[in-house]
Amino acid sequence: MKKQIWMPACLSMALFVAACGGGEEKKTEEKAAETTTAPAADNSMVQDVKGKGKELMAMQDCATCHKETEKVIGPSFKDIAAKYPENDENVATLADKIIKGGSGNWGEVPMAPHAGIPVDDAKEMVRYILSVK
Ligand code: HEC
Repeated sequence: MKKQIWMPACLSMALFVAACGGGEEKKTEEKAAETTTAPAADNSMVQDVKGKGKELMAMQDCATCHKETEKVIGPSFKDIAAKYPENDENVATLADKIIKGGSGNWGEVPMAPHAGIPVDDAKEMVRYILSVK
């Protein structure tokens, strides 16, 4: 499987790094000790320019498996944005993936299908995701 660039994102979000597992645990403790940043800081990294997609996702279960800057069960939105430039083709492909689910681009863990989401809403979500830097 391809190893993606999760590690830098994990390090920068030391407070959440538990999700990254394994060898990073020690560093987490050190970093957590020297920072007082509240968890809410997570949102400050995201501009509200793509607010609609973000709102749509808040009504779904996306946050169970995705966060903006750290890998949870699925890749972080930052990593997804780094992998796919925003263009019509990628927006369409990823919107399709949100609706149908699937696996293989980031590992063996499958993305859950969301059959009830209209294509246009899924595209809004993708535009938001690809705007996360
Ligand atoms: C049950 C966990 C889970 C939920 C819920 C979930 N995802 Fe995912 N998502 C994943 C996993 C795992 C992957 C990686 C799939 C792969 O390797 O191709 C992924 C991948 C993605 C990708 C990248 C797809 C690709 O082909 O690179 C996007 C975009 C995405 N998710 C958006 C969403 C959105 C939007 C929602 C909410 C509507 C959502 N996800 C809900 C687990 C989840």
